Amino acid sequence: MSKVLRSVVTGVGGYLPETIVTNEELAKIVETSDEWITERTGIRQRRRAAADQPVSDLAVAAARRALEAAGRTPQDVDLIIVATTTPDLTFPATATIVQRKLGCPVGPAFDVQAVCSGFVYALSVADGFVARGRAKCALVIGAEEMTKLMDWTDRGTCVLFGDGAGAVVLETMDGEGAKTDRGMLGFALMADGTKQDLLYVDGGVSTTGQVGHLRMQGNQVFRHAVVNISDAIVAAAADAGVEISEVDWFIPHQANLRILEGVARRLGIDEEKVITTVSEHANTSAASIPLALDAAVRDGRIKKGDLLLMEAMGGGLTWGACVVRF
Ligand code: UT7
Repeated sequence: MSKVLRSVVTGVGGYLPETIVTNEELAKIVETSDEWITERTGIRQRRRAAADQPVSDLAVAAARRALEAAGRTPQDVDLIIVATTTPDLTFPATATIVQRKLGCPVGPAFDVQAVCSGFVYALSVADGFVARGRAKCALVIGAEEMTKLMDWTDRGTCVLFGDGAGAVVLETMDGEGAKTDRGMLGFALMADGTKQDLLYVDGGVSTTGQVGHLRMQGNQVFRHAVVNISDAIVAAAADAGVEISEVDWFIPHQANLRILEGVARRLGIDEEKVITTVSEHANTSAASIPLALDAAVRDGRIKKGDLLLMEAMGGGLTWGACVVRF
């Protein structure tokens, strides 16, 4: 086979803010219970960033850990992409703030906005640079402070989300053009803007002039999730030229345990292969996949050469999946 360039994950890092908010604590502010939240979602707790802790701080902490794992320094980074829906400021992009705080050299830095699908979208964008040799050492970060978008009187949403950040370092490596290569092997990215009303924030710069609050018709989103995510996984596996049965680890977006289990059941994925962290940090939007990846790399489950399948769905609606050999 011909030689090709691949973008390979060489380091992973995660960061969760210190403050833990349990289901019992939320039951004191809205009419809910630990039993309802646990049964319907699998969530037991979430992290909450401090009022004076911007999302770039979470992103920087995760990025430092990913760089350390890759044996790289901020000086090596020549591309930064941050997937976030809760930026520090309307502009500049959070990625440029991360660049400044880390002390990375001048190079491209920008944000990707695809809400919960943001990390999968951002990986695909980064692959477009790294697998063409246009960047050699990229930081791709999912970082969110979803608790700052909550309406704390709406029990249908405020119990579901949390704050955190996860990051990967992607580096250029030679491959054989085969599915045994390390790196990004296949993607499927999708959006359907006609479903905006199911999940959105009711504010913005050019409309209300306010940040707004997250609004969701949860059961409608749920109805679309299993089907859409399954379709994206099938398309990404076909793009990579792999069978779903070959996948070693399934790293889904962590929104609801019932969705993860539903997708795994539909596609015949063994539950032992599913990485789940939703009970510990709830839905952290674009941060949830790299946080789950980080947990499973650090505890030794995911090893070099393993075939990974990642997927997500979020506001837009947007959804997508990717196949990566670690
Ligand atoms: O990452 C972005 C993608 N987002 C998602 O994937 C979220 C997808 N949706 C979900 O995870 C689920 O739909 C929810 C967890 C949001 C809700 O679960 P559900 O089984 O779909 O419940 P439901 O919305 O149909 O509501 C059932 C009942 C309602 O009461 P009535 O009308 O039957 O009396 C709700 O008012 O549960 C009630 N309810 C609650 N009760 C206690 C809604 N939220 C709560 C709550 N505590 N926090």
